[in-house]
Amino acid sequence: MSPAPEDRPAEAPERPANVAATNPAVAPVSDRKPGGVPAAASSAGSAAAPPGPPSSAGEFLDSILQTKSELFRGSREVLRDSYVPSRLPHRENQIRAVAEVLAPALHGDLPSNLLIYGKIGTGKTAVVAQVRQDIQRRADTADRLTFVTVNCGTIDTAYSLLQTVGNTFAKSEPDRIPTGWSLDRVQAAMRRLMDARGGTILLVLDEIDRLVARSGDNVLYTLSQINTELEIARMVLVGISNDLKFTNHLDARVRSRLNEEKILFPPYDAIQLQDILRDRAREAFKDGVVDPGVVERCAAYAALENGDARRALALLRLAAEMAERDKAKRITPDHVVKAKNRLEQDVIVECCRTLPPHCKVLLYAILQSYERRRNGVLTGEVYDSYKRLAERLGLQPLHARSISNYVSELESLGLIRATIVSRGRGGRTREIIVDVPLSETMPALEEDPLIAPVGRPKPRGQMLLTNFDNPGRTGPY
Ligand SMILES: Nc1ncnc2c1ncn2[C@@H]1O[C@H](COP(=O)(O)OP(=O)(O)O)[C@@H](O)[C@H]1O
Ligand SMILES: [Mg+2]
Repeated sequence: MSPAPEDRPAEAPERPANVAATNPAVAPVSDRKPGGVPAAASSAGSAAAPPGPPSSAGEFLDSILQTKSELFRGSREVLRDSYVPSRLPHRENQIRAVAEVLAPALHGDLPSNLLIYGKIGTGKTAVVAQVRQDIQRRADTADRLTFVTVNCGTIDTAYSLLQTVGNTFAKSEPDRIPTGWSLDRVQAAMRRLMDARGGTILLVLDEIDRLVARSGDNVLYTLSQINTELEIARMVLVGISNDLKFTNHLDARVRSRLNEEKILFPPYDAIQLQDILRDRAREAFKDGVVDPGVVERCAAYAALENGDARRALALLRLAAEMAERDKAKRITPDHVVKAKNRLEQDVIVECCRTLPPHCKVLLYAILQSYERRRNGVLTGEVYDSYKRLAERLGLQPLHARSISNYVSELESLGLIRATIVSRGRGGRTREIIVDVPLSETMPALEEDPLIAPVGRPKPRGQMLLTNFDNPGRTGPY
């Protein structure tokens, strides 16, 4: 295990089959099958033609996906983030280290809490998913051991984290924790649900740093001392952070609890990225369709971007899409160059898609105001339009303070710029400028079911064209 500096982030959750599939924070177990194709995509490579002409946009897109590809062997999901490959080259030490920390759970003992940290795309989520699968495969532990993985990146508040965690244990609708209770009541209900399950609960909080930046570390304090209040079950926290300095911002008590064990994931270098890509390319593409230099170029670009394997894979996937668009029979290094330009836009769209609900509403409010004015908008104004939109969507608006944290988050994601301006006597506020093309980001948000009800009316056929033009947008990467 690597000695750890002062940092770490958090990750995403998994859920038992009884949890509603609509919560984007909780990844269904079936979507994270190592070496397997995500369930949702498993039909993509099937040769069976749909009966009759497609009657809806969805069916039409499915029929496109099912058309035999010249390049892909089967499902293109193999190149997406949700796919966990059976082998994770250059992560052997980290896999062993995570397994060592969690192994006591196999004997019914309580493992230490664990913090996993490293930059984005260094394989943290994939390694934890793989170790989880390996542990769960020891079938005799299934009754005593429950993994819950929550992606805190899509969670707005402490309330929704506790609610999400609690509800993964709900066996039926009446057991579920609704919105609108006091935080104490949610905590008590979550504990009751955990005790009803019993055994050891391994709670994986992916992208934990993002939740703490948004809503502080109180909720981690609550979770880290929950064993003193649980009567039957016992819980272990596995935090995953993309922010290396994450623990610096934590209260000392929370820090020492979470830091019982720490594992660092270093960035990949170009050669390691090549190995990762070659494995994946072999699985994804037909023999001989990837020209020499393609993998090397994807790896070189991604190595410059902090050794991010996600970037490398996205480049390879987009290069293949560029080749398909050109009706080419092979993927060439030129397609990688085109893919790189395209990726910069797609990253923005993807980033918008994965924001938590209130942050999406806020961003949409900012974009709308900015579109009207084509000029800087003040935070007060933005808050008012956010509130109006939230109310129209039936959401309880968050306080100005949380929204101000979100403004900072959107700024750190590079979507907006906020500068402090003086307004008359001593009054200071922030003026927000949108830093991304409205023509890309507004439709991306409007395609989101959350925003759609308040979005601009769609010209006929637009959705179909957008998705057809950019299949990458219809799924995670
Ligand atoms: N060592 C590896 N071998 C194969 N694929 C990898 C490896 N590391 C990362 N990946 C892939 O790269 C993408 C990003 O990895 P992920 O685990 O999500 O990174 P992180 O959680 O650190 O941001 C995923 O698609 C993952 O499957
Ligand atoms: Mg991750």
